[in-house]
Amino acid sequence: HLRYLLRLLLFPGPKAPKRLYPAHLHIAVDPKAQGKGLGKALLADFLECLKQKGVKGVQLSTTRANTAARRLYQSQGFRLYAKRASPFWAPYHGHPVIHEVWVKEL
Ligand SMILES: CC(C)(COP(=O)(O)OP(=O)(O)OC[C@H]1O[C@@H](n2cnc3c(N)ncnc32)[C@H](O)[C@@H]1OP(=O)(O)O)[C@@H](O)C(=O)NCCC(=O)NCCS
Repeated sequence: HLRYLLRLLLFPGPKAPKRLYPAHLHIAVDPKAQGKGLGKALLADFLECLKQKGVKGVQLSTTRANTAARRLYQSQGFRLYAKRASPFWAPYHGHPVIHEVWVKEL
């Protein structure tokens, strides 16, 4: 985790303005439980909770390579806000990938 955090400082990804998108989403489902609708349900509950608290927007970071996550975000009304080629993910993918920021107004 330390290496990951250090690389975050070295290679910051693009970000959407906190003023418009103050919430930041991280989501992960245990690999054994993926593909059963849990991710969609978790995300829907999270968005509902933000709405009830009056939060006006949410942002998240992902990569072009994460097909499952990108499809989930798109199906829940997120849109691509910014992208940047980044060496950040290179040790995990074996090559640089496109770092993306997605946003949703609530
Ligand atoms: C992304 C993630 C949270 C989705 O959770 P999940 O419980 O597996 O997803 P669901 O079963 O709820 O599926 C929701 C939608 O995601 C998309 N999706 C899920 N798995 C997919 C796959 N293998 N390929 C393509 N799309 C997929 C689909 O659009 C799906 O909707 P549909 O079933 O109506 O087509 C899960 O794959 C995960 O934890 N991945 C590892 C961690 C990660 O990458 N997190 C995101 C970091 S940005």
